[in-house]
Amino acid sequence: MRGVIALTGATGFIGSALARRLIQEEWWVRALYRSPSPPLHLAGLSPEWVRGTLEDRDCLEALVGDADVVIHCAGALRGITAADFYQANVEAVSRLASIAASRNPAPRFLLISSLAAREPELSPYAASKRMGEVALSKVSDQLSWTALRPPAVYGPGDRALLPLLRLMLHGIAPIPGCKDARFSLLYVEDLAEAAVKWLTGEVREKRAFELDDGHPQGYTWHEVVETFERLRGRRMVYCQIPESILNLAAGLNKTAASVIGYSPMFTPGKVRELRHPDWVCDNGPFRRVVDWTPKVRLEEGLRLTLGL
Ligand SMILES: NC(=O)c1ccc[n+]([C@@H]2O[C@H](COP(=O)([O-])OP(=O)(O)OC[C@H]3O[C@@H](n4cnc5c(N)ncnc54)[C@H](OP(=O)(O)O)[C@@H]3O)[C@@H](O)[C@H]2O)c1
Repeated sequence: MRGVIALTGATGFIGSALARRLIQEEWWVRALYRSPSPPLHLAGLSPEWVRGTLEDRDCLEALVGDADVVIHCAGALRGITAADFYQANVEAVSRLASIAASRNPAPRFLLISSLAAREPELSPYAASKRMGEVALSKVSDQLSWTALRPPAVYGPGDRALLPLLRLMLHGIAPIPGCKDARFSLLYVEDLAEAAVKWLTGEVREKRAFELDDGHPQGYTWHEVVETFERLRGRRMVYCQIPESILNLAAGLNKTAASVIGYSPMFTPGKVRELRHPDWVCDNGPFRRVVDWTPKVRLEEGLRLTLGL
């Protein structure tokens, strides 16, 4: 066994991929879950489960225990107001980091942040991811830490992007972003691999690193449509959705969420993120300090995600 990793978010899309990869690499994974029983889809991998929430300091103390590394991947991705994101994306970072810093020796700390943190003014989610990084940097003297800023992550098990990807596979492409917008993408297993390589490397600088699949200058929506056309062997029907329609739909969703009481993903803040023209990453600084090379480009990643 290489050592003990305390992991949050292991029941989610990215965290479960991380847990699987870390266990394969013979790390002992101690993972937080909050549902009444440990999740079945990871049961075969047998992480050591600790039940509790990010809000419960005692649970987090038990989770961190004598760990060599803490990976904080849990996060809030749905919500309307700043308060909806603050607990999981900011306070929990402070709480976990202060617990880690109190240990002697202190475990290394990896935060799964987001490229959204680069543009905190766009949405409460983006602001919370930046504040999470700031919270971590406040314990800089006592911890060796790194934050990773992935762009949109996709892969098997992703619930957020799958409906759009399935629709595109059926030949319909409703394009929510601007025509000339460029954005990076990252296949989930490449993100897990980045974490694995970070574990075995030595990163001295305490900072956030952007990660992407290495496609130069990211993708345009047109390139995404072309990729689907190659996968389907047929032309697509695509249309640019006007910003006014997106705003109307997001506003209605926000109102419905407030009335019925669910946490929405598609909000006016998400529209501002979607309409942002530049979500292109530079993974150069990370690759200069960690021996990591992303392997999966969009066409192969879509095949793997959609089971083609
Ligand atoms: N998906 C992307 O494209 C993307 C891109 C960039 C960055 N990120 C970041 O990556 C991280 C994981 O995202 P994801 O897509 O895997 O999201 P996800 O599938 O929604 O998973 C979120 C995880 O966080 C846990 N969690 C949330 N609040 C919690 C709380 N109060 N107590 C305990 N656990 C809590 C969830 O537990 P339950 O299962 O119990 O709900 C789940 O395990 C997030 O920090 C996100 O900001 C995601």
